[in-house]
Amino acid sequence: MKTVYVDNNATTMVAPEVKEAILPYFSEFYGNPSSMHFFGGQVQKKVNEARDKVADLLGADPTEIVFTSCGTESDNAAILGTLDSYLDKRHFITSRVEHAAVNNVASYLGRKGYRVTELLVDRKGRLDLDDLREAITDQTAVVSIMYANNETGVIFPSKKLVRS
Ligand SMILES: Cc1ncc(COP(=O)(O)O)c(C=O)c1O
Repeated sequence: MKTVYVDNNATTMVAPEVKEAILPYFSEFYGNPSSMHFFGGQVQKKVNEARDKVADLLGADPTEIVFTSCGTESDNAAILGTLDSYLDKRHFITSRVEHAAVNNVASYLGRKGYRVTELLVDRKGRLDLDDLREAITDQTAVVSIMYANNETGVIFPSKKLVRS
């Protein structure tokens, strides 16, 4: 029976060239990159090369690139890490249609005494930029809005959101 997989927005097959590139790190170069010995050091060199390439692609400095193990950790690190830099600001804005990993951080922040604003979307899943503008105050530390919704396919106007 032929299988047709139509859930590529949830997870997709690893590209063959990515699989090929990563394979040696399961069998040959498996040292801990933070180790002091040569076996780990050669892996650290490769991690740093990858960091340089990602930075180059994004037009960022390599020191700004942090590799994480998964999406949930990335969300937590970005949101909680940024809030940690603005301890005097206690307001977090997100939308009702974020991934559960972000919604869970919003609930956590609510329990921690933060004011949390969850913006609603319309029947077509679109955000109202005026709602966002109205929600932002001088107490707002972080606005966390996804770029594209994985269920509705709606792409949020991230550049306009940043200018709000
Ligand atoms: C924004 C966001 N956060 C978290 C996740 C969950 O990722 P993971 O299972 O790697 O933690 C996803 C998955 O698609 C995501 O889109």
